[in-house]
Amino acid sequence: MLIKRIFYITVFFLVFGLTAEASQNNITLNYPPDKTVMEFDLLSISLTVPQGSADLIKVNINDQEKVEIIPDSNFECFSIPLKVGINRINISAIKENKQADEIIMSVFRRSELISAYKDPPAGFKKDYFHMKNHIKCAACHTLEPSESDRKPVNIAAFPTEILVYGKDVAATTSTCYSCHKGLTSYPFVHGPTAVWSCLSCHDPQTNPKYSVKKPDTKVCFSCHIEQKEGWYTKKYFHGPFNTGKCAICHSPHASENPFNLVKTTWDLCLSCHIDKGSGKHIVKGFFVTYYHPTHGKPDPLRKGKELTCASCHEPHTSDSPRLLRLNVGSGFALCKKCHLE
Ligand code: HEC
Ligand code: HEC
Ligand code: HEC
Ligand code: HEC
Ligand code: HEC
Ligand code: HEC
Ligand code: HEC
Ligand code: HEC
Repeated sequence: MLIKRIFYITVFFLVFGLTAEASQNNITLNYPPDKTVMEFDLLSISLTVPQGSADLIKVNINDQEKVEIIPDSNFECFSIPLKVGINRINISAIKENKQADEIIMSVFRRSELISAYKDPPAGFKKDYFHMKNHIKCAACHTLEPSESDRKPVNIAAFPTEILVYGKDVAATTSTCYSCHKGLTSYPFVHGPTAVWSCLSCHDPQTNPKYSVKKPDTKVCFSCHIEQKEGWYTKKYFHGPFNTGKCAICHSPHASENPFNLVKTTWDLCLSCHIDKGSGKHIVKGFFVTYYHPTHGKPDPLRKGKELTCASCHEPHTSDSPRLLRLNVGSGFALCKKCHLE
């Protein structure tokens, strides 16, 4: 009995003593867990890098090198870009020009626009970071929102509001900023996100914490009242508008494109209407060799903008069939708006 117990205790110390020592020279991943599902193009990574365990950290995504870090503290926090679909992430610790350790994981980025990527593959699931207690992170970050995060956003007062809060002041007084600062580094930032009024949409009282009300219209129309009133008086509604998924086309945070569109207008429309890019559908008749342009030319009616699908169609609702713009009633009346003669 006693011998057996001593044996177990010895094994216990051997195993745990050894692993504890081994892990001192290894990097560990605090976040994210393998096979996480993300919605947008930014993933936060947090590593513990014990002193002396690495001279360099290299991060490869889908075999392309994306980030190189010279570790200068026990904790390394950074964010990496994600493409739609599966992202294979490989983090190598390099010491004296040799690979000392390696972490391999996969992260899936969902997309409502591409049916093959709507649902995560088997084994992948969403991890709710804020549903867990992160004592390790709390040593350097504030994890609970404070009063300064409760910024009311008055759409009528925008963009003067940016001046009131000051973009930089808004950022530095936000508790979310230290971890989510990458979210706004795009040319077109959505109003409430620009002033770090994250709680306008992410309520800390919901379950899961910070989850956004669905359908999106509930959230979006709480501020965009003018659009709501205008759009619902129209006769024809666009399919995706009708489903209430505004975020299928607009990023609620920020993007590369005007109106925070998730893609350029042309690419966006083509994600669902692939056959319309040619312009074949616009000019019908005997001169079948000519197809009307749908992009790449200036829009005669909107100074400084390119001709796109939205030059002729409303993306939300319209009083004219085929969602035609400019209240024209028919395709022919539409032609005359741009071709006067
Ligand atoms: C030893 C202190 C420390 C600890 C512990 C720590 N962080 Fe950080 N983290 C920082 C510093 C410093 C920054 C840079 C902040 C800045 O520039 O405003 C940062 C930045 C970040 C960023 C933004 C990175 C970027 O470039 O986009 C994320 C995400 C992050 N931390 C997540 C975490 C998570 C998750 C944990 C817990 C697992 C954690 N951090 C623990 C110090 C720490
Ligand atoms: C310690 C760093 C840290 C701070 C501070 C922080 N977050 Fe996060 N948050 C994360 C990480 C890491 C994730 C995982 C997703 C990712 O990679 O960006 C996350 C995810 C989220 C999500 C997605 C749901 C979830 O739980 O995974 C929301 C929404 C969110 N954060 C909102 C906020 C808001 C609002 C604030 C400020 C009140 C905030 N966060 C402060 C690190 C942080
Ligand atoms: C206009 C509303 C709105 C505002 C303002 C907003 N968000 Fe979001 N956020 C959303 C929606 C919608 C989602 C997608 C949630 C879903 O479908 O699960 C989201 C998702 C996220 C995620 C998850 C990312 C992922 O890839 O899974 C994070 C992190 C996040 N928000 C952080 C923030 C932070 C930080 C702020 C403040 C700077 C902020 N959000 C402001 C609406 C908003
Ligand atoms: C808390 C209030 C608030 C909420 C909620 C909100 N918005 Fe906004 N939105 C604004 C403000 C403020 C602006 C900036 C208006 C300006 O610059 O004049 C804006 C601008 C926009 C623009 C650009 C308009 C333009 O003319 O460039 C789009 C597109 C947009 N929002 C879509 C959305 C969508 C989609 C949602 C829901 C996911 C949403 N908004 C939720 C406040 C809000
Ligand atoms: C099918 C994609 C799509 C959907 C779904 C969509 N939008 Fe848009 N939205 C667009 C495009 C494209 C534009 C730019 C139109 C242009 O170039 O004139 C736009 C422009 C806007 C604008 C600025 C111009 C304006 O009319 O005031 C706001 C605000 C806006 N959308 C909010 C929303 C809200 C809120 C929802 C959900 C109810 C929504 N959108 C759903 C594609 C979409
Ligand atoms: C997420 C998929 C999706 C996207 C993105 C999308 N559409 Fe559609 N669209 C649909 C569906 C589904 C229908 C058919 C249902 C209906 O008639 O509204 C439709 C119908 C239409 C119609 C025909 C309406 C009628 O009365 O026959 C037009 C015109 C149109 N879309 C234009 C656009 C334009 C312009 C864009 C880009 C701003 C766009 N769509 C982006 C899904 C999409
Ligand atoms: C120069 C104006 C113009 C442009 C640009 C344009 N359309 Fe159209 N579109 C029309 C007209 C006119 C009709 C109505 C044709 C009819 O009634 O037969 C139409 C009809 C449609 C329809 C519904 C009819 C059908 O065949 O299913 C869809 C969907 C559509 N367009 C999508 C798009 C998309 C996507 C783009 C951008 C790639 C685009 N359109 C660019 C003028 C335009
Ligand atoms: C939103 C503005 C707009 C509308 C509406 C529009 N077009 Fe065009 N159209 C253009 C532009 C821009 C060009 C390209 C001119 C160039 O190449 O510089 C063009 C070119 C043409 C051409 C080639 C000859 C030329 O002038 O270069 C024909 C033919 C034509 N359109 C017919 C039509 C017909 C028919 C309709 C109605 C179904 C129509 N367009 C509606 C903007 C428009």
